[in-house]
Amino acid sequence: MNLLERAEEVRLQLKNDLAQVGSDLPSVENFRIKFLGKKGIIPALFSEFATLSNDAKRQFGKTLNELKNEAEHAVNSLQERLNKQETDSEFFDFTLPGKTPSLGHLHPVTQTLNRITDIFREIGFQIEYGPEVETDYHNFQALNIPENHPARDMQDTFYIDDSIVLRTHTSPIQVRTMLKSKPPIRILAPGRVYRNEAINARSYCLFHQIEGLYVDEHVTFAELKGTIEYFAKRFFGKNVIIRFRPSFFPFTEPSAEVDVSCYLCGAKGCRVCKHTGWLEIMGCGMVDPAVFAEVGIDPEKYTGYAFGMGADRIALQKYGIDDIRLFFDGDVRFLKQF
Ligand code: PHE
Repeated sequence: MNLLERAEEVRLQLKNDLAQVGSDLPSVENFRIKFLGKKGIIPALFSEFATLSNDAKRQFGKTLNELKNEAEHAVNSLQERLNKQETDSEFFDFTLPGKTPSLGHLHPVTQTLNRITDIFREIGFQIEYGPEVETDYHNFQALNIPENHPARDMQDTFYIDDSIVLRTHTSPIQVRTMLKSKPPIRILAPGRVYRNEAINARSYCLFHQIEGLYVDEHVTFAELKGTIEYFAKRFFGKNVIIRFRPSFFPFTEPSAEVDVSCYLCGAKGCRVCKHTGWLEIMGCGMVDPAVFAEVGIDPEKYTGYAFGMGADRIALQKYGIDDIRLFFDGDVRFLKQF
């Protein structure tokens, strides 16, 4: 048998084997080694080819090269098919549950702040912000709380220096807004506030307030009540009732504290409302004329109301949480639940 005939025979063998090769890596590798490996059939033909005369080489060279290409092509497509199968099978089981990327969410206090601001935004209140590091003037003096006045004891203050404080409430935003704009003013100001209080389950050194302010001609206490009632029914549920208790703030006169009937127990009395049936939600009142005079608004022409509520306390009540510190620990196991 001459080399040409042998080459033809090898070609047939190749075709035959190819039809039977298993679709797994070892079978394909065996097939490759058999025909193309160092001691394989095709390299063996090539080493015989090297012994031929130049004339004979010319005659058989093409055939041998074709045979080698054919074998290489067969191995390549076998390997390709294997790879494809592998990737295919990785995604094949459509019934497997998908991998959901874990999404974070807003902090429960932020959620509460957002819900409250949304309600007031809908009825025409604009959102205002102010600095957390505040001057003594904006935080106290302009709000009718002069130096050495006993009213300062109502709030324990972090002082940065003699004239700079960490704001103890959001009321300085009232002052900043009235200084820069003319009535009518209708704003809602959410933000962090700081108080130098002993840290325990009921109080923390920082918390969040939402301040409201409405200044115009002929603003009345009745409008304050109507607005708060509207808010309470939107936020806590349409069956809640509210009550105003006389109170005192240096920057409002008259002043009141607002309670909402406990929406958790239907005012029957529960752990959260301490069996009183009422939850305290905010302080409020009519802007004191002394504050208007300080910010350059004519107290003879304009009246206004203001209110301030604690978002953390409302969130505590709403979720039935009994320790405010949980809001600030950043423990995901806690935060995940909201
Ligand atoms: N700033 C007051 C406080 O922190 C709340 C308040 C705001 C009361 C506006 C009346 C009017 O206690």
